[in-house]
Amino acid sequence: MRIAVIGTGYVGLVSGVCFAECGHDVICVDNNEVKIANLHKGIIPIYEPGLDVLVKRNVKAKRLHFTTQIPEAVKNSSVIFIAVGTPPLPTGEADLSYIENVAKQVATSMDSYKVVVEKSTVPVKTGEWVKRTIRFNSQAGVDFDVASNPEFLREGSAIGDFLKPDRIVVGVENKKAADLLEECYKPIIDQAVSFDLEKQEVIHQTPQSNIVPFLVTSVSSSELIKHASNSFLALKISYINAVANFCELAGADVEQVARGMGLDSRIGQKFLNAGIGYGGSCFPKDVSAFLEISRELGYHFNLLEEVIKINKTQRELFIRKIKKAMWIVKDKTFAILGLSFKPNTDDMREAPSIDVINALLEEGASIKAYDPVAMNISKELFGDRITFCKDAYDTAKNADALILLTEWDEFVNLDLEKIHKLLNYPIFIDGRNCFEPADMAKLGFDYHCIGR
Ligand SMILES: NC(=O)c1ccc[n+]([C@@H]2O[C@H](COP(=O)([O-])OP(=O)(O)OC[C@H]3O[C@@H](n4cnc5c(N)ncnc54)[C@H](O)[C@@H]3O)[C@@H](O)[C@H]2O)c1
Repeated sequence: MRIAVIGTGYVGLVSGVCFAECGHDVICVDNNEVKIANLHKGIIPIYEPGLDVLVKRNVKAKRLHFTTQIPEAVKNSSVIFIAVGTPPLPTGEADLSYIENVAKQVATSMDSYKVVVEKSTVPVKTGEWVKRTIRFNSQAGVDFDVASNPEFLREGSAIGDFLKPDRIVVGVENKKAADLLEECYKPIIDQAVSFDLEKQEVIHQTPQSNIVPFLVTSVSSSELIKHASNSFLALKISYINAVANFCELAGADVEQVARGMGLDSRIGQKFLNAGIGYGGSCFPKDVSAFLEISRELGYHFNLLEEVIKINKTQRELFIRKIKKAMWIVKDKTFAILGLSFKPNTDDMREAPSIDVINALLEEGASIKAYDPVAMNISKELFGDRITFCKDAYDTAKNADALILLTEWDEFVNLDLEKIHKLLNYPIFIDGRNCFEPADMAKLGFDYHCIGR
C-alpha cells in the first residue's frame, strides 16, 4: 500500500513508521521544516522508546520518506491519514482549523481516487465537514471517501500499542474504504508484527488470522468511540481521586480501596490510581471537546463537567497539601522530581508540574527540578525561573522538601536513605502514591501522599 500521513507528531510519526514496518510505502508530511530536515538527518523530534531505531531502519529500507509538501504525498498515495493537532480553543471546543487547512490542500492535490482518513481525535460530525471541504476544493470528477480511524496509542508505549492494539476502529461510508483500511492494517490484525518493549525491537512472526478486532462502524460512531473512551478513562481517574479525598476524611486507604475495587473484573485495576489528576495532550482537551460538542448538539452532559471539576480541584488540593506540610512556603526550596505529564514521555502539555511549580513560585519559593527526558522542553517553558539539576540526588541536595510529581521508574527505585541525608528536612510529598507510608515513616520521612 502507498500511504501518506499528514502531521508528523507523536501520532503521525509513530503511525507512519509502524505502517512502514508492516511493509507499506509511507510518506510522512509536516509543515514544520525544521522537523522534516531533522528527520532527514535521523534526528527524532520526540522521545518515544524504540522510535529512533525503527525510523532509521525503515528510511534505510526506502519504505519511509519525509516531505513538507502535501501535493507530493497525496499524488503518490491511495490512503491519506490526517494526524495534525486538534488543540483546545479557549471555549473548550476542539480547534479544527489544522484539519480544515489540510483537507483543503489534500483536495487541491488529488488527481485520482483517495481515502482520506481522520486519525486525529475530532468531535463527532467532523467527517461531514471534511467531506464537504474536500468536495468544494477538489477538481470536478475526482472520487474520494472520508473515513475515521481514531488512534488509541499511549505516549511512552506508542509503538507496542500501535502494533498490538486492543482494537482497530474504522468509520466508513462504504466497503471500498473499509477494505483499503483493512489492507493497511492487515499485518497488525493478523499479528504478523509485534514489538518487544524490553529489547525495543519489532518481531516479525507467522501471521495468524484476525487476532486484533477490526471494528467497522459509521463515521460518526467511530469519531464518538474515541471521545467516549478517553472521557471514560478520565472519569475513572476523577472517580478514584474523589474516593481518595473521601478516604482522607474517613481514615481509609485509597490504595487498599482501589485494589479491592479493581479485583472486580467488571471494574479492573487500570486507571484507578489516585494522584494529582490527569494531564497530557489528550484527556483534558478531549473531555472538554466532548462536553462542548454535546452542548452544541443539545445534550447537557453534566457528568463530564464534574469530571473536569474534580480534576481541577485535585491539583488545588495537592498544592494545599504542600502548604500544610511546610507551614510557610515563602523562601523554602523544593526539589521537584518529574516534570512530564506521565513517565516515559517528554510531553509537557497540561502537565500537573506546570501548575504546581507556578503556584509555589508565586508564593515566593525556589524550585530545583529534574526529569529523565523532559528537561529541554521544561527549560523552554520555565527558563531561569527554576534550577535544573543533573539527577534526583542533585535535586534533593539542600532542599527543604521533596515533591514527586511523575512516577518514573528511577524515582520509584530511589535510594531513599541517601535522599533522606541530602534533604535539609525529611519532608517527602508524593503526588503519585509511589511508597508505603509505614516504610517511609520507618526511614524517618514526614511522608505526605494522596488518600491515605
Ligand atoms: N499524543 C497522543 O498520545 C495521542 C493519542 C491518540 C490520539 N491523539 C490525537 O492525534 C492528533 C495529533 O496529536 P499529536 O500528539 O501527534 O500532535 P503533535 O502536536 O505532536 O503533532 C501534530 C503535527 O502536525 C503538524 N501539522 C500541523 N499543521 C500541519 C499542516 N497544515 N501540514 C502538515 N503538518 C501539520 C505539526 O507541525 C505537528 O508536527 C490529535 O488530534 C490528538 O488528540 C494523540
